[in-house]
Amino acid sequence: MRKLCLIISLVILLGFYTITLLYTNLYPPEGEIMPKGILVLKDKREVVGNLVAAQLGDIGISFFSFGEYFEAKPLLMLTKPTEVEIKGHYWIDGVTRRILTIEGVKFEENLIVYEDTLIYNLIKLSSKPIRLKFKGSLQVFSWFNPDFRRYIAELAKVTFETLEELGLKACYHNTYCLYLTSNYPMHIKIEKTKVTYEINVKLESDETNAFTFAVVGTIAKEGVKPEDLRRIIKDPSSLMLKKFTWIKRLFEKVHKLGEIQSKYSLLWKYMWYVILSNRVHVKQHPVLKNPFTMPSKFVFRHQWLWDSAFHAIILSMLDVQVAEEELLNLFEAQKPDGRIPHEIFLSKEFCKLFWKVDDYSPWTTQPPVIAIAIDYIVNRGASREFIERAFRALDRYDRWFREYRDADKDQLMAYVDPLESGWDDSVRWDKPIAVFKYRTKHYRKLYKNIRMAPVEAVDLNCYIYIQRKVLAELARKLGLENLAEEYTKLAEETALKIRRYMWDPETNFFYDIMEENHEQIKVKTPAAFVILYAGLATKEQAEKLVEHLLNPREFWTTFPLPSVSADDPKYDPKGYWRGRSWINMIWFTYWGLKKYGFEKEARMLAEKALDIMLKTFTCNENYNSLTGEPLGAPDFGWSTLMLSIIKDISQD
Ligand code: GLC
Repeated sequence: MRKLCLIISLVILLGFYTITLLYTNLYPPEGEIMPKGILVLKDKREVVGNLVAAQLGDIGISFFSFGEYFEAKPLLMLTKPTEVEIKGHYWIDGVTRRILTIEGVKFEENLIVYEDTLIYNLIKLSSKPIRLKFKGSLQVFSWFNPDFRRYIAELAKVTFETLEELGLKACYHNTYCLYLTSNYPMHIKIEKTKVTYEINVKLESDETNAFTFAVVGTIAKEGVKPEDLRRIIKDPSSLMLKKFTWIKRLFEKVHKLGEIQSKYSLLWKYMWYVILSNRVHVKQHPVLKNPFTMPSKFVFRHQWLWDSAFHAIILSMLDVQVAEEELLNLFEAQKPDGRIPHEIFLSKEFCKLFWKVDDYSPWTTQPPVIAIAIDYIVNRGASREFIERAFRALDRYDRWFREYRDADKDQLMAYVDPLESGWDDSVRWDKPIAVFKYRTKHYRKLYKNIRMAPVEAVDLNCYIYIQRKVLAELARKLGLENLAEEYTKLAEETALKIRRYMWDPETNFFYDIMEENHEQIKVKTPAAFVILYAGLATKEQAEKLVEHLLNPREFWTTFPLPSVSADDPKYDPKGYWRGRSWINMIWFTYWGLKKYGFEKEARMLAEKALDIMLKTFTCNENYNSLTGEPLGAPDFGWSTLMLSIIKDISQD
């Protein structure tokens, strides 16, 4: 037995030595792919696991989150960092590493996250002794309203407790717990919603030459034993190995998808990492029972409806079963009246404070693009069980729209809340919000929960039209001829009304209309290009739309497709849905253009966006349409929609 232990230890040591050799001595050129498919990115700070996500900061960890339960900004920070010089920064297969000197002493700094364990370690590489002081804090999560912290701490019975000689434990409902520990004593101060700590590190000339700090997240009663914590602190290499193995498997799968144009191959791999590393499994959760993909583990840390639909479209390229799984929570959370909820929070307490409901979801839905995802999954070989389930869910969902989002019963559905549109702050809603303010009572008679005058939006109704076509197709597959016919008719009716009311022959553009009088809201946005995706424009109309698209004063900006035309007086290239560019709109437009034979224009559009994504090496939530600067959340799920475009371009 002792012999076996010795051999195993030797093998682990040898493995670690090889990795250290490979990654420490042979630093790869920044931004290059190393042999054997290793992914190396320049200056990248983000690392994620399951619920844990972290960002390397000045010297230490500037950001940390554990789902919607805890967060830290910073989790760990070197105080008074005099004379720090960063010599190199590498992100190698999901581990972020820097080589630096602090007051002339050389260090290697690593941040590793695998599943719900995080290890930070600062290895001294020169013999000179040094004293360092770190401080950090951990607090109850609250999105943008810090006042919520106190309430959430009470509602979720948040506890902080010190662990003798080891560090501290923080729990949310006694279910989602974090253990913080270090190889140096932590001086801890506990407050109601927050805990702060200081760590004095004394690195001698040889003996103790590394400072290690770890966070271990657990769910439910699993718990972590003191000896486990000690082991984790002692041996960061085994966590690193697990991470490398995880990524290796991931890229082996991606590799099977075939060759990609060489200039995109690194971005392609990185985007696959983004979509797959945003997946999460929240064990013990009463609603989010199946694994799903968070839009970004750094900002958006629960499940959203239209985000997941986009995620499923991408995932279906790689693994149909995983794509099916992405939608399961949403089917299960469908309300008795048929509504598929807008979002499903991890933290019920946070949902309660944000939306004032005693539930995991608010009363809204989101753009119904789920039918598009279902269609992709079905065409890529869904199981019979999934087809039946998806049909049932979609059929109830369409009925819900008819009942609750179509007060004038014209088969054009309406958005009644800006957040329901997915275009939260859009200029499109300025007028409907203003109108609502002075006729609130009147609108409340039409819709129970309403926050803007109802708008029959152009994109919404394209999605509804597609949803009905998909429903007809699924009904046919399931032998439900009557329903197939009914949905074909409904789709045609929606199409007819879109064409009749939304096109303006004077400005040659499609617009949203007010439900009440079908008056067009003359705000030009890329929502109009969804018409091309749905195939609802005539050839002449499509040509006119392309003129708008290619006009640098409207949509052909540095990063194309600003969320409102650049010639709109309210256009702000950095404004959230008020001028930033979003990838989902590029995706609809790309495929829409191809549908009408605008191959060259589609390619130009894709390349214009991809050039910037390549140059900045990012997959962000959105981009400044004037400068191309990446904005919003990093490593954002639906921006990986570019994967299907990269694949398409590579096939030409
Ligand atoms: C923002 C976006 C919305 C998206 C959500 C999650 O609220 O406006 O469209 O679904 O973030 O990514």
